[in-house]
Amino acid sequence: MTSTPILLMGGTGAIGRLSARALRAAHPDVPLLIGGRNAAKSAEAADDLGNAEGVVIDPRVDDLGLGDRPVAAVAVFYADDRLAGLRYAQRRGAAHLGISSGVFEIAPEVAAYMHAPSAAAIVLGYEWLVGATTIATFACAQAFAQIHDIKIGALVDEQDGGGPAVAEDFERLNRMMPAALTRQDGRYVWRGKDDAKTEFRAIDGATMQAAGFSSIDVAGLAAATGAPNVQFNIATGISSSRRRGEPKSTEILIELAGKGHDGLALRTRHAVFHPRGAAHLTALGVSMILERLAGLDGNAPTPAGLYFPYQVVDHGSYLLRLQAEGGRIVSLDTL
Ligand SMILES: NC(=O)c1ccc[n+]([C@@H]2O[C@H](COP(=O)([O-])OP(=O)(O)OC[C@H]3O[C@@H](n4cnc5c(N)ncnc54)[C@H](OP(=O)(O)O)[C@@H]3O)[C@@H](O)[C@H]2O)c1
Repeated sequence: MTSTPILLMGGTGAIGRLSARALRAAHPDVPLLIGGRNAAKSAEAADDLGNAEGVVIDPRVDDLGLGDRPVAAVAVFYADDRLAGLRYAQRRGAAHLGISSGVFEIAPEVAAYMHAPSAAAIVLGYEWLVGATTIATFACAQAFAQIHDIKIGALVDEQDGGGPAVAEDFERLNRMMPAALTRQDGRYVWRGKDDAKTEFRAIDGATMQAAGFSSIDVAGLAAATGAPNVQFNIATGISSSRRRGEPKSTEILIELAGKGHDGLALRTRHAVFHPRGAAHLTALGVSMILERLAGLDGNAPTPAGLYFPYQVVDHGSYLLRLQAEGGRIVSLDTL
């Protein structure tokens, strides 16, 4: 257990607040520093949580304007283009989690890690909904002896767009990287505009028009499973729950093909579903990563290193927590 606070930079936003609440639900006593640009907004968010302090972050100074107080871990909920949070965390030997970069933006973070590999744990948390896609895919992959194809389809409900930082990130990511990083026949290729147009079926079977997206999940899933074909697509529209008259939800479709343990060809189709939408599922991953990084679960904090979310979090515990929130992995008919 730690009584050293966890710093949430951009903790006044939607994901920051939900992550803080999720952390608190599991660890009521963990002290939090809620960092923002606006003192009143930070104080309000901190008051709302209790046992938290609102702080103003100054990204241009080494100590972020926080003095030399200790922190157990730092999470950043916006594109921190100065890497202010990462440098601050490394200097203090505190773990760092960022969730806002694109796959083409990781070089500065990798460089910071390479120059101080033993300073602290750094989690590249840009996986789609911070571990939800990869951890669920690994669970589905257990039925396979060998995987050839992984197709991920993220369905974002048009009523589930997230806060202003999400729109800013998507604008930047699509402007800078219109092509989609994809693994095809063992080669990493970039699907261009027309190549990237595709479709997938939602949980309820509806056909969603989709486009390729350069998610870091592609690299992690390919490295972990050896699958020669890995692609990630996004569709924005109406989630299956809303089509049947219920509130919006988030769905991540996972299609796998390969050989089963009996040596025969096998295809599976599943979906990760969270009844309250993308922000809640994201906050689940963030809170479990922070819990692990800071050693709140009673085990030693994650050692220094560079990690994907799925390398930090215990998969069984994640899936149990998902279930406790009403989410699940749904088994679907193959098409
Ligand atoms: N990896 C994933 O799957 C995943 C999923 C969902 C979201 N995300 C990312 O998570 C982030 C948060 O999403 P959200 O819905 O919580 O957005 P949000 O409600 O707009 O919150 C963003 C927070 O960051 C602060 N902020 C924004 N730009 C800043 C800057 N340049 N300098 C300092 N602070 C800044 C905002 O402070 P102010 O109140 O002062 O504006 C706010 O506290 C986004 O970057 C989004 O792309 C990632």
